[in-house]
Amino acid sequence: MAKIAVIVGSVRSDRQGIKVARWLEQKLKERNHTVFFIDPMELNLPLLDRMYKEMKEPPQKLKDLREMIKEADGYMPITPEYNHSTSSVLKNTLDYFLEEYFFKPSAIVSYSVGGFGGITAAQQLRIIFAELGAPSISSSFSISRVQNVFDENGKLADKNYDKRVDRFLDEFEWYVDAFKNQREKGTPY
Ligand SMILES: Cc1cc2nc3c(=O)[nH]c(=O)nc-3n(C[C@H](O)[C@H](O)[C@H](O)COP(=O)(O)O)c2cc1C
Repeated sequence: MAKIAVIVGSVRSDRQGIKVARWLEQKLKERNHTVFFIDPMELNLPLLDRMYKEMKEPPQKLKDLREMIKEADGYMPITPEYNHSTSSVLKNTLDYFLEEYFFKPSAIVSYSVGGFGGITAAQQLRIIFAELGAPSISSSFSISRVQNVFDENGKLADKNYDKRVDRFLDEFEWYVDAFKNQREKGTPY
């Protein structure tokens, strides 16, 4: 049982990503994990001026967000693909913090309405999470033609994904446990 931060990557009013994120939240809960559901649409953070650690009086919503990022044992960003990259809102949300991520793994989920499932965005996100000190696990989970995978209520319509996601979550759990065990012995800095 671990604490996982699921981070939504879209604030578009017609966003597909929220269905992906809610489905994965459910999957993680079924495996008895605690999920910190981070939705930039609810947070409505401004474009980054000062990082959290540079703020004299951070607003309560950023204090709460920091607590979740710091407490989490692993991260699951849910990225759309915008012009072959991740979304600016996801990057903006991540950039408020740094040390809070250190020595925890990430598992990248990407999606798109096209046939490639946002894999280019996922590759770029690997570089970002490496810099954050939360390296991504070997597998990533991509969902192509996301508009057909869930129904309008967000229910999974393509049951093949239920099977596919198990393997991905098994792998993530392995890394989460491994990092957690090692953190208990201390970290280099
Ligand atoms: C600004 C913008 C750029 C996009 N660029 C890509 C792209 O490079 N590759 C792709 O497969 N889909 C692209 N799309 C289509 C997205 O896959 C689709 O809009 C998806 O629903 C976005 O996720 P969201 O609905 O959660 O915001 C783009 C969409 C937008 C709005």
